[in-house]
Amino acid sequence: MIYILLGLPGAGKGTQGELLSQKLGIPRVSTGDILREAVRKGTPLGRKAKEAMERGELVSDDIVIGIVEDKLKSEECAKGCILDGFPRNLAQAEALEKMGLELRAIYIEVPEEEVVKRLSARRVCPNCGAVYNLLTSPPKQNGVCDRCGAVLVQREDDREEVVRERIRVYREQTEPIVEFYRGKGILEVVDGVGSPREVFSRIQRVA
Ligand code: AP5
Repeated sequence: MIYILLGLPGAGKGTQGELLSQKLGIPRVSTGDILREAVRKGTPLGRKAKEAMERGELVSDDIVIGIVEDKLKSEECAKGCILDGFPRNLAQAEALEKMGLELRAIYIEVPEEEVVKRLSARRVCPNCGAVYNLLTSPPKQNGVCDRCGAVLVQREDDREEVVRERIRVYREQTEPIVEFYRGKGILEVVDGVGSPREVFSRIQRVA
């Protein structure tokens, strides 16, 4: 089974994807994490993706579809996986359909004001990838990762003007996918407001 997590930037796809991954014992595949890692390492893929990501726009379909196809064929995803951040437009959704896998989509619904608040308070660890929130899940020591001790940073695309652009791109290109999966009868909608644990119990009821 391939689970697809949908929702606005900051809706909690990464947070819930991690919890679901631990619960089901299948990996979370985040195209955003894969692209950010490539940018950080300065690989050819990273050089192609960097500009679009900094502007809050989508990286080209051929690049992203290629990444996901390779992952889904890999041994690590043999028992399924949780897709976080893919598909992000109808072309990507159709490419995924052609792979002929069993899909289930979970749409985490959160109001726009709430995601803007969450993203401005998000801090991430550049070393181990841990995610914090200054308002709801701060690190024990200010600015320092609990897990590995590295100095926490704000994601480049969490600056307010880029967040606005990401939301605009989401409304225009990603939101139509919700209807696409509803039409196929494989969509579950979950209220994403509440603590991460509360949201996760709702997800567990439908996953
Ligand atoms: P990506 O990394 O996928 O970003 P996104 O979709 O904008 O999602 P986020 O990671 O910002 O948020 P999230 O929903 O995972 O929330 P999180 O759990 O972290 O993509 C980044 C960029 O890469 C794109 O803009 C694009 O350029 C490119 N890209 C990626 N995939 C692509 C694709 N398929 N095609 C083309 N381009 C692609 O939570 C957010 C914050 O809220 C955290 O601080 C967290 O601690 C907190 N939080 C979580 N849950 C709760 C809760 N219940 N209550 C309170 N706070 C909470």
